[in-house]
Amino acid sequence: MHSFAFITSLLSLTLLFFSLFPTSAHAATAEQWRSRSIYQIITDRFALPDPSSPNLLTVPNPNCNPGDQTWCGGTWQSIISNLDYIQGMGFTAIWISPVSENYDGPRTPYGDAYHGYWSQNVTALNPRMGTPDDLKALSNALHARGMYLMVDIVANNVITLNYTDPDLSKFAFTSTDMYHPYCPIDFSNQTSIEHCWLGDTVVALMDVNTENQDVINIYNTWIASLVQEYQIDGLRIDAAKHVRKDFWPGFCSAAGVFCMGEVFGGDVPYNAGYQGPGALASVLDYPIYDYLVSAFTIPGPGNISGLVDGLHQGQELYQDMSVLGTFLENQDNPRWANLSVDPQSLWNAMVWQFLAGGIPIVYYGQEQGLRGNADPYNREPLWPTGYANTTTYQITATLNQLRNFLIANAPDFLTSNVTVLGTSSNEVAIARGPLVAVMTNRGSPPVNATMGIFNTGFMAGQPLTEILYCKQVTSGSEGTLLVDYSSGGHASIFMRTNDLRGSGLCGQYTDVNPDMNGLSAASAARAVRVRLGGWVMMAGLILAGLVFLS
Ligand SMILES: *[C@@H]1O[C@H](CO)[C@@H](O)[C@H](O)[C@H]1NC(C)=O
Ligand SMILES: *[C@@H]1O[C@H](CO)[C@@H](O)[C@H](O)[C@H]1NC(C)=O
Ligand SMILES: *[C@@H]1O[C@H](CO)[C@@H](O)[C@H](O)[C@H]1NC(C)=O
Ligand SMILES: *[C@@H]1O[C@H](CO)[C@@H](O)[C@H](O)[C@H]1NC(C)=O
Ligand SMILES: *[C@@H]1O[C@H](CO)[C@@H](O)[C@H](O)[C@H]1NC(C)=O
Ligand SMILES: *[C@@H]1O[C@H](CO)[C@@H](O)[C@H](O)[C@H]1NC(C)=O
Ligand SMILES: *[C@@H]1O[C@H](CO)[C@@H](O)[C@H](O)[C@H]1NC(C)=O
Ligand SMILES: *[C@@H]1O[C@H](CO)[C@@H](O)[C@H](O)[C@H]1NC(C)=O
Repeated sequence: MHSFAFITSLLSLTLLFFSLFPTSAHAATAEQWRSRSIYQIITDRFALPDPSSPNLLTVPNPNCNPGDQTWCGGTWQSIISNLDYIQGMGFTAIWISPVSENYDGPRTPYGDAYHGYWSQNVTALNPRMGTPDDLKALSNALHARGMYLMVDIVANNVITLNYTDPDLSKFAFTSTDMYHPYCPIDFSNQTSIEHCWLGDTVVALMDVNTENQDVINIYNTWIASLVQEYQIDGLRIDAAKHVRKDFWPGFCSAAGVFCMGEVFGGDVPYNAGYQGPGALASVLDYPIYDYLVSAFTIPGPGNISGLVDGLHQGQELYQDMSVLGTFLENQDNPRWANLSVDPQSLWNAMVWQFLAGGIPIVYYGQEQGLRGNADPYNREPLWPTGYANTTTYQITATLNQLRNFLIANAPDFLTSNVTVLGTSSNEVAIARGPLVAVMTNRGSPPVNATMGIFNTGFMAGQPLTEILYCKQVTSGSEGTLLVDYSSGGHASIFMRTNDLRGSGLCGQYTDVNPDMNGLSAASAARAVRVRLGGWVMMAGLILAGLVFLS
C-alpha cells in the first residue's frame, strides 16, 4: 500500500511536470513520426479562402497560373477548411511551406515569394499566409484530429536582390559577420556548398554564417519559441546540406522536435551521412526517389535492379530507414505524371512509397494527377481539380488505411527490414512483416505474362487477399504465388485473409486476428529461405519463362 501510494504520487508528479511544459504534449520524436504519413502543402496553392475572409493580403485568384510565379491566395485558414479532404486519404500529418516572413517588395525577375523559400526576417511570420492566431488555429485543428504539424524551415539563407551591397536592416541578422561573403557554389567542394550562396546574382540567397555564435543563439532561441508558440510537431529543414552538419543537433535539440532534412541528390552514402546524432534524425530519401523514377516511369529505363541495389545500399548505410521521408513528387522535381504517361506506373511506385519506404510524403496534387514539370510548373493550384475523389485519391486512402492498420496491429511492421523476394526485368516482389507486394513497370495494357514469387513465408494452400483489387487467392505449394498481367500491369499486395480482419479493407470489418504477431516467425523463416532459395527462384523463373514461350 505504501509503495503503491509512492508510485501514485510519483506518477502525479510526473504528470505535473509534463503539464508545466506544454510543448511536451506535442513535441514529437522520430519514434512518433515513424508511424505517420505526411501530406505536403504549398500554403499559397492548396486551397482558396473565401474572398470576404478577414486580413487577406492577396486577392484570391481562381485562375491561378503557376507560370506567373505570384501569389494566388491560399492561407493557413484555407488549409483548416479543407482538412477533411486530407484526412479522407488517411494522412496523419501535414507539412506546410515555410511560415517565416518573406521578401514582399517589387516583383523580381523570378516572380514573387509565393512559395515561402525567400526568407527575409526569419523570426517574423509571413502575413500573406495569415495571422499568428490563424497558424495557432491550424495547429489546434490538426491536433484535434490527432494529426501532426510539420513546418518547413529555411535557415541556410536569406534573400537579397543586391548581392554586392545587401541591405541588412530587414533581416534578423544585422551585421556583416553574420553572413559568409559572396561566392557562387562549386558543387564538388563541400566547404563551398556550405559557405557559398545559393540562387544567383539576380535573386541571391545570402548564406547565413552558421558558425557565428550570435547567429547560433538567435536561431536556437527563435526555433524553440516558434515550436512552443505554435505547438509544432516536426520540422522539415530546407537546404540542409548547405549548412555544416554539426549545426543541426543543437538547432533540433533547441526545437525539441523531429527534424527531417532536405539533402538534394541521389548518392546514398552522401545522403546517409546526414542521418544520425551528429546531424539530423531524418532526411528526405532523394536516392530512392531517383531509383523509383528509373524503375517505374513509362517510358523509362525500367531499371528494377538499380532500385533493389539502392534499397540494399540504404539498408547498409542509413542509421534508420524507417524514418526517412519517401516521396514521388515535390516542389522542386517534376510531377510524376510529367515523367510518366501511364497512371499504373504511379500506383505501382506508390505501393513502394507506402509499404517499402520510410514515412510516406505525398505532395499535394499527386492524388489529382497534376502534370507540371519543374519549378514553377509543379506548384499548380489544387482548386481547379475540384478536390475530386479520383482513383489515385482512393488508392492513397487504401494504402494509408492498410499502413495505419499494420502499424496498430503488427508492431514490428515498420522496424522490420524490407526483404526482396525476387525480381524480373519488369517486376520486384518484396516482403515486410505480414505482407508480400509485387510491383511492375509493365503499364496498363494487358500482357500475356506472369510473375512467380517464392519464399513468400505463406503456407501452402493459404487463403490470401490481394488488397488493392480485393481478390481472394490461395497460395500454391510451398506458399508460392503467381501474379498474372492479363488485365494489365497492376501492383499486388497479399496478406493472409485472416490478418486483414478488423482492417475495414475488402469488407473485413470485425475481429482483428490476435495472432498477427505470429507472422514475425513467418518472416524470420522467410528470411532464411530467401537465402537458401536463390537457386530455386532462378530455376522457377527459367521455368516460368519457358511457360510464356511455349
Ligand atoms: C523581425 O521580426 C521580429 C518579430 O516580429 C521583430 O521583433 C523584429 O523587429 C523584426 N526585425 C526586423 C529587422 O524587421
Ligand atoms: C546595390 O546597392 C548599391 C549601393 O546602394 C548600388 O550602388 C547598386 O546599384 C545596387 N545594385 C543593384 C543590382 O541593385
Ligand atoms: C572549397 O571552397 C572553399 C570556399 O569557397 C574555398 O575556400 C576552397 O579553396 C575550396 N577548395 C578547393 C579545393 O577548391
Ligand atoms: C540501373 O541502375 C544501376 C544503379 O544506379 C546502374 O548502375 C545501372 O547502370 C542502371 N542500368 C540501366 C540499364 O540503366
Ligand atoms: C536489416 O538489413 C541490414 C543490412 O542487410 C542488416 O544489417 C540489419 O541487421 C537488418 N535489420 C534487421 C532488423 O533485420
Ligand atoms: C510537363 O510539363 C510541361 C510544363 O508544365 C508541359 O508543357 C508538358 O506538357 C508536361 N508533360 C506531360 C507529359 O504532361
Ligand atoms: C470515393 O469513392 C469511393 C468509391 O466510390 C468511395 O468508397 C469513397 O467513400 C469516396 N471517398 C470520398 C471521400 O468521397
Ligand atoms: C498467351 O500465352 C499462352 C501460352 O503461350 C497462349 O496459349 C495464349 O494464346 C496467349 N494469349 C494471348 C492473348 O496472346
